[in-house]
Amino acid sequence: MISLRSIIFNGMDATPIDVQVQLSTGLAKPEFNIIGLADRAVKESAERIRNVLSALNMSLPPKRLTVNLSPADVEKTGSHFDLPILCGILCAIGVLPESELSKYVIIGEVGLNGAILKTDGVLPTSVWANQNNLGIICPGDQGTEARWAGHTNILAPFHVLELINHFKGTQILPVPETATITDTVRSNLDMAEVRGQHAAKRALEIAAAGGHAMLMIGPPGAGKTMLASRLPTILPEMSPAEILETSIIYSIAGQLNGKSLITTRPFRSVHHTSSAVSLAGGGADARPGEISLAHNGVLFLDELPEFSRATLEILRQPMEAGKIMIARAKRTATYPARFQLIAAMNPCPCGHLGNAALSCSRAPRCAEAYQNKISGPLLDRIDLHVDVDAVNPWEMNSADSTPVETSAQIRARVVAARERQIARQGIPNAQLDGTALDTVATLSGELTEFLNTAAQQMGMSARGYNRIRRIARTIADLRGATNIEMSDLAEALSYRPINRGKYGVK
Ligand SMILES: Nc1ncnc2c1ncn2[C@@H]1O[C@H](COP(=O)(O)OP(=O)(O)OP(=O)(O)O)[C@@H](O)[C@H]1O
Ligand SMILES: [Mg+2]
Repeated sequence: MISLRSIIFNGMDATPIDVQVQLSTGLAKPEFNIIGLADRAVKESAERIRNVLSALNMSLPPKRLTVNLSPADVEKTGSHFDLPILCGILCAIGVLPESELSKYVIIGEVGLNGAILKTDGVLPTSVWANQNNLGIICPGDQGTEARWAGHTNILAPFHVLELINHFKGTQILPVPETATITDTVRSNLDMAEVRGQHAAKRALEIAAAGGHAMLMIGPPGAGKTMLASRLPTILPEMSPAEILETSIIYSIAGQLNGKSLITTRPFRSVHHTSSAVSLAGGGADARPGEISLAHNGVLFLDELPEFSRATLEILRQPMEAGKIMIARAKRTATYPARFQLIAAMNPCPCGHLGNAALSCSRAPRCAEAYQNKISGPLLDRIDLHVDVDAVNPWEMNSADSTPVETSAQIRARVVAARERQIARQGIPNAQLDGTALDTVATLSGELTEFLNTAAQQMGMSARGYNRIRRIARTIADLRGATNIEMSDLAEALSYRPINRGKYGVK
């Protein structure tokens, strides 16, 4: 019996799969079966492989050919088992040497003419292979992706014949080239394009520095979408570990362009008609959703109250845990989902609540219904709540004498503040909780008293109380200070939830 190795991912967890091929005698014509909890895509392998063999002028011997994918209790999905099964058969009929192929993890889809086609999950497979001292055989187009895992034991043939020739010694496959990490492509957007909005820009800077979730609320055309889409231009760079982790998620989702890793923080703008599955992940093959694709980056939800309430409620658990569990038929798949939520909304359906000249006759009752679409627990998880008022058109045109700060200038302060956080506690302030928060955000007796009084007056929840301390910590970090001072705390208290702010409806 031939035994080769492939792999399957359940969420981010790899399960090695033994691809066993058995030829048994006693039949007049060939028979081909795949067993071991295989889904339809895997069962279809048999048909594709039969065609490939005839394209290669090889035919199956008149024997019973059984392919078993083991362990049998793990569901096998996807078409990447084509290549390991084909290799197993080629070993069984003596075309490929099993002793050599068993040193590799093999994945790839095979086209009818024998071409080896792209498949999902090459990067995490390569990482797993490296950790387990194995090589990897993957599609030619994805050799570079496999190289990112940091080893060179990679065979990346474009066609089955190349693989056969490699082991015959007639045509040695080269080690795939590494692509140099292209300098982080920065977008051509810049904060300097946003006129006025000093308060909103300041809040965005705090959000960027500490990784805090933020909700912007204001009338139409105030620049909320404009501000949010410029957040990536002031965020700190990703660390190598973050780059690898985020790229692995994209690889599993089949969204990694083979030529480069994800080196800029993801910015996922999700439309309000999106389904719960596209946001959270799931489906037959338990794919990662937008919140996982936004891991280590930004999840932007524009027009927040337009999302269905059920869809929004999904965010609650991952916002706390930093990961999402997706239920599947027999097991659950877990993906990382540590994203920075940035949301924007109008205060009411017409958008002009609070503006006597423009607001409609249904204010403020319509606003109440509108704002109530977002649950209290979700609002409670958003650290910064910011009013974005409309800019006066004349302010936009005036040749303002005060120079507008560019994204690069703001980013320098953000990076310095983030570095302080990482050096002190290893994580951004937004992730601080419990004792970790107590140790790094200590308040003097006077400040504690001040915050306690404010909390009492505002009817703050325990989570709200900690939220203020986290933001105060980030504001102090932006000043480069070790201790939190009154000004930090007072500013933190100004980013209050909407039901207490200017547009508050009772
Ligand atoms: N502060 C500003 N500086 C420069 N241009 C601005 C500013 N605010 C708005 N604009 C202009 O108005 C346009 C609309 O802004 P934007 O889409 O960000 O508004 P919004 O607050 O998201 O509105 P809505 O609530 O309708 O979604 C921008 O594309 C930009 O051209
Ligand atoms: Mg908008």
